[in-house]
Amino acid sequence: MKRPLIAGNWKMNKDLASARKLAADMVGLLAGVEQVEIAVCPAFVHLQAVAEQIKDSNIALGAQDCYWQGDGAFTGEISAAMLADIGCEYVIIGHSERRHVMGEGDELINWKVCKVLSDGLRPILCVGETLDERERDITEPVVTRHVTAGLLNLSAEEVRRVTIAYEPVWAIGTGKTATPEQANDVHALIRGILAEKFGSDVAAEIRIQYGGSVKPDNVKGLMAQPQIDGALVGGASLKANDFEKIVKYHA
Ligand code: 13P
Repeated sequence: MKRPLIAGNWKMNKDLASARKLAADMVGLLAGVEQVEIAVCPAFVHLQAVAEQIKDSNIALGAQDCYWQGDGAFTGEISAAMLADIGCEYVIIGHSERRHVMGEGDELINWKVCKVLSDGLRPILCVGETLDERERDITEPVVTRHVTAGLLNLSAEEVRRVTIAYEPVWAIGTGKTATPEQANDVHALIRGILAEKFGSDVAAEIRIQYGGSVKPDNVKGLMAQPQIDGALVGGASLKANDFEKIVKYHA
């Protein structure tokens, strides 16, 4: 049975002491939660300290990015194998901030997804349209391209280990959330693409998270949608109490 995945993307926030404390607080608040899979994705330099805090808990560790090659002369980069070595299970790939601030394109994102999988980790592939793209009514082709290009050359077996995060760029950090119906429509589109490419059984197994201003007061409506299998949470994952309320959305 597929459990929803609720992951906190801490982005470029916190110092070492506060990252450690946030993780420790979450371990206490979220102990015993079983219906939902939980992950936190701190900055690279805090991964190890957070790994120590969440050891033996029900919280998994994720990173926010990685490079697409293995060991070598790639100054400043971090490999998927290094992340696996310090206990990461998930890696966010193709986040909109990487696409739009750092200029990452579909091809690079696909290489990263492939490398994450071949090094035994689970990618969270982010897709989603900008405000301009939504207003021009091209959400469907943009999301289709992100999904298709992001999963290029993967087998159905590999795709089973991928989570897709639909994050409309206009809803990230803006306080504007897609309505549950708007999000569900795009999730249904993504599910359809997955079914066409990898078969309906695989498509049904893959988790599609929603991300973009998910808060304690809107999570329930989003999670009630049939196509929404979790949330990728930015700002609200920086406060242990808010993240707890999001994870316990059914309470
Ligand atoms: P916010 O929840 O702050 O809008 O961020 C969403 C996000 O980008 C998660 O990856």
